Amino acid sequence: MVFDRRPDDMVRITTPELADAFIEEQVAALREQIGDKKVLLALSGGVDSSVVAALLIKAIGQQLVSVHVNHGLLRKGEPEQVIEVFRNQMKANLVYVDATDRFLDKLAGVTDPETKRMIIGGEFIEVFAEEARKLDGIEFLAQGTIWPDILESEHGIKAHHNAGGLPEDMNFELVEPVKILFKDEVRIVGKQLGLPDGMVYRQPFPGPGLGVRCPGAITRDRLEAVRESDAILREEFAKNGLEDKVWQYFTVVPDFKSTGVKDGKRAFEWMCIIRAVNTKDAMTATVEALPHDLMCHLVERITHEVPGINRVLYDFTPKPTGTIEYE
Ligand code: XMP
Repeated sequence: MVFDRRPDDMVRITTPELADAFIEEQVAALREQIGDKKVLLALSGGVDSSVVAALLIKAIGQQLVSVHVNHGLLRKGEPEQVIEVFRNQMKANLVYVDATDRFLDKLAGVTDPETKRMIIGGEFIEVFAEEARKLDGIEFLAQGTIWPDILESEHGIKAHHNAGGLPEDMNFELVEPVKILFKDEVRIVGKQLGLPDGMVYRQPFPGPGLGVRCPGAITRDRLEAVRESDAILREEFAKNGLEDKVWQYFTVVPDFKSTGVKDGKRAFEWMCIIRAVNTKDAMTATVEALPHDLMCHLVERITHEVPGINRVLYDFTPKPTGTIEYE
């Protein structure tokens, strides 16, 4: 049975058994809806699109074509994980596009945050549409829409999901197999579909990626400093049991330098800001109180291992007044 809306009396999926039942029902429904046709999916590697991909691979195998666009603003190891999980382990029909140069060239010199967002969103649609045009016989477009997306778009809070921007001649029928699920349910379903914990339980990550954590005009070297410092922060949070405890944590490297000393010489370099916050709905947020020893260890690692960083700051600002992201 395919529901357009979440039935009022739907039991919350909280156990592996309930997730298995949902998967079985959806697989049957997807096979019926799609038949022997082909489906296209923009696979970001985030929870929602990954679960949609895994469900569709189970239902229709090679009839699903997943396109992973690397915009160059992903976290360290993310594109590799998408390729490993979907192409190598699940044997998916995966098109990988490294569009890093295209995105970074378009973003060069652009400092306004909203213009950066528009360039990233617009370029994404363009790259995805170009890939779609190369494929024959696609009739469906799969999306990782979830129930809160639908509620929020109905209440005028935000427009839901990306496909709205595809060119008009790309007239696909939508396939949205997790659209009646809440996020926690999507995660349980993903786990039952065999996706790794690192994918299923990962923290939220904005569509414009590290681009909004590189305030000011994005340069390759500063972007690399954000990526490397973020990887160190994630590694240390995992080691110290904070991975599942803190809702969202990341680093920011603004386009601003300060004087420091490295190896007895003047080092005029960037600063790295650490942000670690807790929230229920991202509308307000409180700051995680990190242990002092861990802070010192993070400062030591980031200033010594990340080229171009001579100073580390911790952001103590709750939301409001600060938003979670810097742009
Ligand atoms: P703010 O910065 O508004 O962030 O307090 C609230 C939550 O939303 C995420 N966020 C975004 N997600 N595209 C996204 O997909 C965006 O442009 C975007 N901006 C912020 C942010 O990471 C946080 O979880």
